Amino acid sequence: MNTRNKAVITAVEAFLPDYILDNEMLSKMVDTTDEWIMSRIGVKERRILKEDGLGTSHMGAEAVKKLLEKTGTKPEEIDMLLCATVSPDMLFPATANIICDKTGIMNAWGYDINAGCSGFLFSFETAASFIESGRSKKMILVTGERMSAMTDYTDRTTCPLFGDAAVAMMIEPTQEDGAGLLDSILHVDGVGRHFLYQKAGGSMYPPTEETLKNREHYIYQDGQTVFKNAVSRMADVSVEIMEKNSLTSQDIAYLVPHQANMRIIEATGKRMGLQKEKILINIAKFGNTAGTSIPLVIWEFEKKFKKGDVLIFSAFGAGFTWGSMYYKWAYDSK
Ligand SMILES: CC(C)(COP(=O)(O)OP(=O)(O)OC[C@H]1O[C@@H](n2cnc3c(N)ncnc32)[C@H](O)[C@@H]1OP(=O)(O)O)[C@@H](O)C(=O)NCCC(=O)NCCS
Repeated sequence: MNTRNKAVITAVEAFLPDYILDNEMLSKMVDTTDEWIMSRIGVKERRILKEDGLGTSHMGAEAVKKLLEKTGTKPEEIDMLLCATVSPDMLFPATANIICDKTGIMNAWGYDINAGCSGFLFSFETAASFIESGRSKKMILVTGERMSAMTDYTDRTTCPLFGDAAVAMMIEPTQEDGAGLLDSILHVDGVGRHFLYQKAGGSMYPPTEETLKNREHYIYQDGQTVFKNAVSRMADVSVEIMEKNSLTSQDIAYLVPHQANMRIIEATGKRMGLQKEKILINIAKFGNTAGTSIPLVIWEFEKKFKKGDVLIFSAFGAGFTWGSMYYKWAYDSK
């Protein structure tokens, strides 16, 4: 019997903005078609937080409120809140702090984690360290992105990709044998900074009239380089975690991949030898919500999961960052 604490997800809730931007509407904004976007990316529509003056903390706080209500938890019971985001409300203070303030979480500490589209993996690993060591007993992990705030809707090569959403997860310790986060393989390679970034607005290129004129506050991506790296690295690391833990494709209930591009997801599933039914996909409805995409899949497909199901989480993103996790689901979802 393993008596060491393991980190488990005990509940999940999401917030999605009401506004839907579909390919039809997008094709009136830039020179593109539904056919091109569906065949190259696989996104049909994405949610957009339209309201002025609302940022990632708004969506995160709404998801947290739902989570507290669903689990009958008082805000003061939470001892830590982490927020994974590349679209914080402001460069500082941390969006985690703002979410705590908006939800009455007064007995907690926390901070933001920026790991691009691998944000969920990196923040869940961090969360697990606090839970396993006993330093946190009841934590909320928020992943939230207002990608539309940095998407250039005149650039047809990037604007079909991204969407907005937030997910809140309750993370708690368990001593139940075999449940929870069992293994992770995580990587960074800073060479990726040349291929996917938001150039201006930080300390290297503070905002100026010039940076605004050059549209440097928007996402820049060398799509083909990112695509090639994503396909090979996400597939490699997913196979690596299987081999490391002697898992066969039969042992895996579901692959929960980052939702960047249908072709990347399919290539990863194929390399793992998984049947299509085991690969969970919702990219058509929500697009790429960066670090929020894996939690959004977990939230949407939660009812499918049975206690003991083996899930593999896999992601690749800006940085470059990438990795995979071996997770055993801890409850029968109702
Ligand atoms: C963005 C992406 C879909 C582009 O697909 P691609 O096959 O690489 O396409 P290319 O960039 O080579 O462009 C091919 C052509 O399509 C055109 N094109 C690009 N976007 C288009 C759009 N939305 N509609 C129509 N045509 C488009 C290009 O201008 C180019 O035309 P040209 O040949 O006349 O120059 C693809 O590179 C990709 O998915 N990259 C990874 C993105 C990603 O996942 N990022 C996040 C990582 S977490």
